[in-house]
Amino acid sequence: MRTQVAIIGAGPAGMLLSHLLAAEGVGSVVVETRSEEYVASRIRAGILEQSTVDLLRATGLGERLDAEGHRHRGIYLQWPGERHHLDFVDLTGRSVWVYGQTEVQKDLVAARTAAGQQVYYEVGDTALHDLETDHPSVTFTDASGAEVRVRADAVAGCDGSFGPSRCAVPSSVRQQWERVYPYSWLGILADVAPSTDELIYAWHPDGFALHSMRSSSVSRFYVQVPNDTSLDDWSDDRIWTALADRLGHGQDGWSLETGPITDRSVLPMRSFVATPMRHGRLFLAGDAAHIVPPTGAKGLNLAVADVALLAPALAALVRGSSSLADSYSDTALRRVWRCTHFSWWMTSMLHTSGDPFDAELQLSQLRWVCSSRAGAAGLAENYAGLPIGF
Ligand code: FAD
Ligand code: DHB
Repeated sequence: MRTQVAIIGAGPAGMLLSHLLAAEGVGSVVVETRSEEYVASRIRAGILEQSTVDLLRATGLGERLDAEGHRHRGIYLQWPGERHHLDFVDLTGRSVWVYGQTEVQKDLVAARTAAGQQVYYEVGDTALHDLETDHPSVTFTDASGAEVRVRADAVAGCDGSFGPSRCAVPSSVRQQWERVYPYSWLGILADVAPSTDELIYAWHPDGFALHSMRSSSVSRFYVQVPNDTSLDDWSDDRIWTALADRLGHGQDGWSLETGPITDRSVLPMRSFVATPMRHGRLFLAGDAAHIVPPTGAKGLNLAVADVALLAPALAALVRGSSSLADSYSDTALRRVWRCTHFSWWMTSMLHTSGDPFDAELQLSQLRWVCSSRAGAAGLAENYAGLPIGF
């Protein structure tokens, strides 16, 4: 089988890339190890930055987002006894939207299905070939067990942190940077109306807590827990007590409403960057090339920014012009490192290490961010997101 771009991975990076390429008149085939239902139901990111929303709207994917998403002007930052609102619109003119990754994925699948996009789900043994030539290919076994080879002009590795694409860049040219954090998040989804109008990021001596949401009747919460935490050790009661303590239930008349927990998981936290993001005719995008800790809500937005750059670069490449493809890795990595720094900074400011000196520095930083317009604007500019192509 022949196509112009073979895309590995049907997550948000892979599906959005196929959508953007189609808009440029470029054909693609997508291959994915999991089932369509599994990919669509994974509970992951919840916040879209301004440029992500602009891109989704501009490419015909904004209808449900506009009807069901919630625009937020900013966030609350808090520590015991104090809660401060940062108004991103006032500070930067940009805002963020609450719209889950599950919903973005459904919109992408609906658009690609309507357009007749070929997606192979439940494939096995994905392998990449001849990447240093101008006729690369991808082989796999399809859901019926038949062996398939997709020949293409380029291969897009959108296969997340555990896919094979990153390791197809030879170790002689690949560089990797990693920071593993000494804590994890325990995340829950609950059938209860949010107890806040906008997200609350809370520093607390017992550890960080985040009150997020998915809709007017579904809330999302996270608490900092030690690495290797078992869900068995966290009863519903223990989770709600930790959230109430850390989020300040009872302070200044604020109360945390609780409800049935419908999903729970423990998420390890790390920063990771692999370079270059292009080798020969292989181009990496999204989690395949980089991971950020979730504190800055950047993972999904960064995947979207990568493919927004990659689609025009591949469209030009298949038509014989290589300059955008040649600059893709360097251009994408500027934003990747900015978001890597921001996510590390938010994580370091808000998670407790047990060291009293660290705690004083964190509180000093929080007070500065919440009392100085320059400090607040720096956080706001990064959180609401820099323009694509920054
Ligand atoms: P993915 O969504 O991982 O998609 C990659 C796809 O490639 C997957 O569907 C995978 O099955 C497929 N694949 C893998 N191997 C192969 C193969 N061999 N052949 C074919 N296909 C393959 N970000 C936030 O901003 N906020 C959050 O709260 C948040 N929570 C998260 C929770 C979890 C558990 C995880 C893992 C991530 C979370 N993220 C969060 C990060 C965010 O979800 C990711 O950054 C985003 O999904 C990246 O999209 P992607 O398409 O690059 O990768
Ligand atoms: C969510 C996750 C984040 O990491 C974050 O910073 C904000 C919101 C969420 O899942 O809703």
